[in-house]
Amino acid sequence: MKKFVLIVTLIVSSNVHAEEPRLKTLMATMGGHAQGILSGILYEDYDVIQNAVAWVNNHEQPTGDLAMIKKELGLEVLRFKWYDTQAHNAANAIGEAAIARNMKEVSRNYGIMIYNCTKCHEAFRERLRNVLHKE
Ligand code: HEC
Repeated sequence: MKKFVLIVTLIVSSNVHAEEPRLKTLMATMGGHAQGILSGILYEDYDVIQNAVAWVNNHEQPTGDLAMIKKELGLEVLRFKWYDTQAHNAANAIGEAAIARNMKEVSRNYGIMIYNCTKCHEAFRERLRNVLHKE
C-alpha cells in the first residue's frame, strides 16, 4: 500500500511540474466559461452564471508564457494587465448581480466583460501569438 501511495504521489507531482500553464490553453477555457455565462443568461439560470463566473475569476496564471509576454510588451504590459483587471471586475459584477437575481445588471456587465476580452485581443493577440508560437 505504501509503495502504491508513493507511486501515485510521484506521478501526480511529476505531472504538476511537467508543463507550466500556457496562455492559449487558459484562454480556450475562458472562451468556454464566457459561453457558459451566456448560456446561464439565456436560460435565466443564476447558478450556472455564478459557477461560470467563479471559473473565470479563479483561472491559473499562464506561468509558461509570462516571461515572454513581459519581454515582448515591456511597459505595455501595464495595458495588458489593465484589460485583464477590467475583465475580472466585470466578471465580479456579473457574479454579484447573479446573487441579487438582477438579470439586467448581469447582461450589462456581460457586455462590459466581453468588451474588455476583445479590447485585449485587438491590442495584443496577433503580436503575442507571433512570439509565443514561433514553432
Ligand atoms: C489581458 C489580455 C487578454 C484578455 C483580458 C483576454 N484575452 Fe483572450 N487572448 C489573449 C491572447 C494574447 C490570446 C492569444 C493566446 C495565444 O495564442 O497564445 C487570447 C486568445 C483567446 C482565445 C483563443 C484561444 C485559442 O485556442 O486560440 C479565446 C477563445 C479567448 N482568448 C477568450 C477570451 C475571453 C472569453 C476573455 C474574457 C473573459 C479573454 N479572452 C480575455 C489575451 C487576452
